[in-house]
Amino acid sequence: MPKKTLADLKDLRGKRVLIRVDFNVPLDAQGNITNDRRIRAALPTIRSVLDAGAAAIVMSHLGRPKGDPKKDAAFKMDKVAERLQQLLGRPVQKVNEVVGPEALAAKETLRPGEVLLLENLRFDPGEQAGDRAFAEKLAELADVYVNDAFGTCHRTDASMVAVPAALRGRPRVVGHLVAKELEVLDRLLSDPPRPLVGILGGAKVSDKIGFIKALLNRVDRLLIGGAMTYTFMLASGQSAGSSRVEADKIDVALDLINRGTGKILLPVDHLVVQRLDAPETARVVEKDIPDGWVGVDIGPKTVALYRDEILRAGTAVWNGPMGKFEDEPYSKGTRAVAEAMAAAKGVTIVGGGETAEAVEEFGLADRMTHVSTGGGAFLEYVEGTPFAALAEIDDRV
Ligand code: 3PG
Ligand code: MG
Repeated sequence: MPKKTLADLKDLRGKRVLIRVDFNVPLDAQGNITNDRRIRAALPTIRSVLDAGAAAIVMSHLGRPKGDPKKDAAFKMDKVAERLQQLLGRPVQKVNEVVGPEALAAKETLRPGEVLLLENLRFDPGEQAGDRAFAEKLAELADVYVNDAFGTCHRTDASMVAVPAALRGRPRVVGHLVAKELEVLDRLLSDPPRPLVGILGGAKVSDKIGFIKALLNRVDRLLIGGAMTYTFMLASGQSAGSSRVEADKIDVALDLINRGTGKILLPVDHLVVQRLDAPETARVVEKDIPDGWVGVDIGPKTVALYRDEILRAGTAVWNGPMGKFEDEPYSKGTRAVAEAMAAAKGVTIVGGGETAEAVEEFGLADRMTHVSTGGGAFLEYVEGTPFAALAEIDDRV
C-alpha cells in the first residue's frame, strides 16, 4: 500500500512537525563529519516544512553510543547542527537533551519557519529499547510526524516505530527522501526495465546471503566482485591463492552458484599482489590465483565484460566495491563499474554505505538514477523484509 507523503499534507501553517532523519554520518577521529550526504539528502523535506509555514523539530541518532558519558561525548549532535545550519542557510537551534524541560521549553518558543535539533536520540536508553514512555515524551513535541530516515527504516528504535504509534490520529507521513527511495526500490522489485543486472561486491558472502538470494530470484545477470569473489572461486573449484576467503561459507557460495546457474558471472581475471601493502608487486592473472598471491581487485578483462553487461542493462543495481578500493592502486575495478553505471542509459541504482561513498568520491553520484541513503536498510528492503517503521505511516487512500 503506498504511503502518505509530505506532498499529501494540505495545510501545515503553524504546525510543529517532528521529522525523524538519519543524520548518522561518518566521523573522523576528531569528530569531524567526513561525508554529509545524509544531511544534504534530508534538506528538501526540512525546507518544504519550513516553506509551508511550519516549525521543524528534527531528530536523529548518531553512531552507537554505549551509555559511557566520556566516550559518548564524541556522538553529540553539535557538529551536525552546525553543518545543517550551513547547508540550510538558516539558523538551527540545538538543545542538549533528547526529551525533558529544555526540549519542551524550546518547543514552546519555536516559531513557524524555525528549526530545532534534538540531541542524539541514542543518548536515551529508551530509543533503542523502543520504550513507550520515552516515545510519548517525543510525541508531545509534535502535531505531525515525518519519517525521512530511510537509512534507519530497518530498525525498530522508538523514534521510528513507537513515536508514530503514539501519534496515531495525527498525520504520519514519509518525507521526500523516503518517498523517492520507496518509489525507486518498489519499481526495482515490481517491474524493472529489463534486462535487470545486479552487481555485487564487498568483503563477505556471509553479510549478504539473504540479499544475494533475493537478487538471484529477480535479476537476469549477477556480476560478482570484491573479496567475496574468492570464496565463490573456491566453491566453483578454482584456487584463490592466499586471498581472504570465508572457509566456512564455501557451501553457501556453492548453493548460490547452483541457484544462479546461467545468471552468475565471476571475474575472469584478477589484480593480485604479494602483500596488501606492496602495490608494486601487482600483476593480473586469469582464472586461478597462484599460492602466495592475494586478490585485491577485478582485472581488465572482467572490467570490459562487466561494463558491457551494465551498458546493456535496462536496470543496473549495485552494492559493494569490486576490490580494496580505499587503496588507490586497487580502485580501478570499482571506478570502472561506477563509470559504466554513469554512462548507462538504463535505470541505475546504487546501494548506500561504502558503495555510495565510492560513487561520490568519483564525482559520479549525480549521474545515477538513484543513490540510496540506506546501507543495511537498502539490503533489507530489497530482500523483502517488512519494516515496522513504515507500517506506522498512514496509507494513501
Ligand atoms: C545505518 O547507518 O545503518 C543507520 O543509520 C542505522 O544505524 P545502526 O546500524 O547503528 O542501527
Ligand atoms: Mg548500519
